[in-house]
Amino acid sequence: MAKVLVTGGLGYIGSHTVVELLAQNHEVIIVDNLSNSEYCILSKISEITHTTPAFEQIDICDTDALRACFKAHGPIHAVIHFAAYKAVGESVSNSLLYYKNNVLGLLSVLECMREFSVCNIVFSSSCTVYGQPTQLPVTEQAPIQKALSPYGNTKQICEEIICDAIHSYNDICAVILRYFNPIGAHPSACIGELPKGVPNNLVPFITQTAAGVRKQLQVFGNDYNTPDGSAIRDYIYVVDLAKAHVKALDKLCAQTTHSGYELFNLGTGTGISVLEMVHTFERVTGVSVPYTIASRREGDIEQVWADTTRANRELDWFANTSLEDILLSAWNWEKKIRNL
Ligand SMILES: NC(=O)c1ccc[n+]([C@@H]2O[C@H](COP(=O)([O-])OP(=O)(O)OC[C@H]3O[C@@H](n4cnc5c(N)ncnc54)[C@H](O)[C@@H]3O)[C@@H](O)[C@H]2O)c1
Repeated sequence: MAKVLVTGGLGYIGSHTVVELLAQNHEVIIVDNLSNSEYCILSKISEITHTTPAFEQIDICDTDALRACFKAHGPIHAVIHFAAYKAVGESVSNSLLYYKNNVLGLLSVLECMREFSVCNIVFSSSCTVYGQPTQLPVTEQAPIQKALSPYGNTKQICEEIICDAIHSYNDICAVILRYFNPIGAHPSACIGELPKGVPNNLVPFITQTAAGVRKQLQVFGNDYNTPDGSAIRDYIYVVDLAKAHVKALDKLCAQTTHSGYELFNLGTGTGISVLEMVHTFERVTGVSVPYTIASRREGDIEQVWADTTRANRELDWFANTSLEDILLSAWNWEKKIRNL
């Protein structure tokens, strides 16, 4: 079993991954500065797993504090690096904040890893690196396109930094995971997505509208070149996504090479339109979601979904939760946090 330092481990994807790591008897040290999460998530993780992982409230950009953490909890076998800011709109209005947190954060993590001879890292990247691909489903070989936001650019820069560090020092093994659209909540409804303010993502917007927190959902564009005119994405269940991290960790820990990187798309392989999402939610929950059609949002692409062949084959990982079950998990979570 590995000892794993999880940065951003109280966040949305991080907390679900910690649960899956603990379920596989890995030892976990969570590092989080609570900039976009709540301390109470730690006790929720304990409630689900009956284990309380170590927790350090540290800003990963504070390399001295991070160094002390690596020292106190060593030897660490691997880092799963989630900690980053992720709001696309905010990254446009405050780009330097995003470059500082996301890029400096990674540099600090890599510096500590090298200092303490930790060679394995799993990094959270995004399908945004592909922009609007010319071929669908999109494979890992598709060309990287100019990022549409500073947030997207930080993901591209971080991927390059990891690859350059591997070439320079030959002592890092990385798995770079390009997530498509993570959605849903843990089946226990103890943990889930906690968007601040108006959600950027579709599913929290749908569940908040269904809960009456928002009057109506805005569907951005019904004139795309898709069967129903709304944009198409690949929505991946957060628990399936979390399990992929455990598979990636196992692969890293089992391999005998000392340096290199692998890239994986993590999606379902199926594209679902915005309107299909709304109608599926209404059908499985019996709750209606009032919506209006608004004009296309700047920077939104028309359609993307993943070719997951590589992750299926190399990680022995499959996203097999049904969309119905995923949407029900999201609705149960919304009801729980709203006391409905
Ligand atoms: N959620 C998505 O739609 C999505 C899609 C693609 C990629 N990603 C990436 O996956 C990762 C996790 O995303 P998430 O949705 O769980 O986000 P999240 O905001 O819920 O979790 C990130 C966590 O990192 C912490 N954090 C941020 N900066 C930190 C710092 N400097 N030091 C310590 N902790 C810090 C936050 O407090 C939070 O708990 C991010 O890197 C994100 O960019 C997310």
